[in-house]
Amino acid sequence: MSEQTKETLPLRGIDHVEFYVGNAKQAAHFYKTAFGFQSLAYAGPETGVRDRASYVLQQKKVTFIFTSPLHEDHPISDHIKKHGDGVRTIAFEVEDAAHSWQETTSRGATSFQEPTTQKDENGTVVVSGIHTYGDTIHLFVDRNHYDGPFLPGYEAWSSHYNPEPTGLIYVDHCVGNVGWGQMNTWCEFYRNVMGFDQLISFDDKDISTEFTALMSKVMTSSNQKVKFPINEPAKGKKKSQIEEYIEFYNGAGVQHVAIGTGDILTTVTQLRDRGVEFLYVPGTYYDDLIDRVGEIEEELQQIRELGILVDRDEDGYLLQIFTKPVQDRPTVFFEIIQRKGARSFGKGNFKALFESIEREQERRGNL
Ligand code: FE2
Repeated sequence: MSEQTKETLPLRGIDHVEFYVGNAKQAAHFYKTAFGFQSLAYAGPETGVRDRASYVLQQKKVTFIFTSPLHEDHPISDHIKKHGDGVRTIAFEVEDAAHSWQETTSRGATSFQEPTTQKDENGTVVVSGIHTYGDTIHLFVDRNHYDGPFLPGYEAWSSHYNPEPTGLIYVDHCVGNVGWGQMNTWCEFYRNVMGFDQLISFDDKDISTEFTALMSKVMTSSNQKVKFPINEPAKGKKKSQIEEYIEFYNGAGVQHVAIGTGDILTTVTQLRDRGVEFLYVPGTYYDDLIDRVGEIEEELQQIRELGILVDRDEDGYLLQIFTKPVQDRPTVFFEIIQRKGARSFGKGNFKALFESIEREQERRGNL
């Protein structure tokens, strides 16, 4: 299957992630100021787009769009009313968007957009799309014949306000939360429709605390450039963070986007100085860290001060940290990750992370 799909649905990687938000202008400012993204492109009334405003930000290979509707009677308004701020689209860069659409829809995907050619003076882009879990969309973007700032309809956005980047380089993975009993359904979707393989698996015995649990599987494209862990809640004494997410997001959706850095100590120091809030990690986590993960190159004291988590697998180790939700609903958050050989996702940290998230849930009265 994967040999065949390697040829039939090659994904070059994640082209962009689009967030629908209540106030895109202010969200863009936040992501520039706090995360060090750079202004790239803009679409809105000034560029001939009458119904929305979209701000495109970039840092190395990470491209985010923040979009707000301009009218009440608009599907984006419905999306925001239902979900709050959240991820609408994970777009892939592909060789051939028409072929990607044909392949996926013929294997059972629901079409979101038939292959559509968009043109401007910078060339031609073909975009198509399919639905995935919840109200989330995948777009296939063929930008082989385009050299504009982003996509047709967007104009270059140059700003006099350009905060320094924070060292973010690429989207490492995007995690989906789905409802009870839905994890396997969506893993099969990525296997059958997208030709993904399963990377590793957890079960609820792996990831549970005294109170709550989840189940998670990781699906990956054949070339490993796109990795999508899928979580579903599992039974525990109290409400899991996945249930809390689904309650406040009103259904399945993207839980977190993990962004890779080459120097997590510097990146996290900068993010913290700029006001990004991270989950608290108990001091006890570090007391036996080296016993658990072995020697690491980083200075333990600095790791502990920043609250960075460490995990090891057979290929190496990884350093990771999770932000608090980036909007008032306890839904979407970010992970910052540095891989030092490890190709897994911090399984050994799930428990420590869970206990930290539960402390936050408790404070919100949602445990
Ligand atoms: Fe993650």
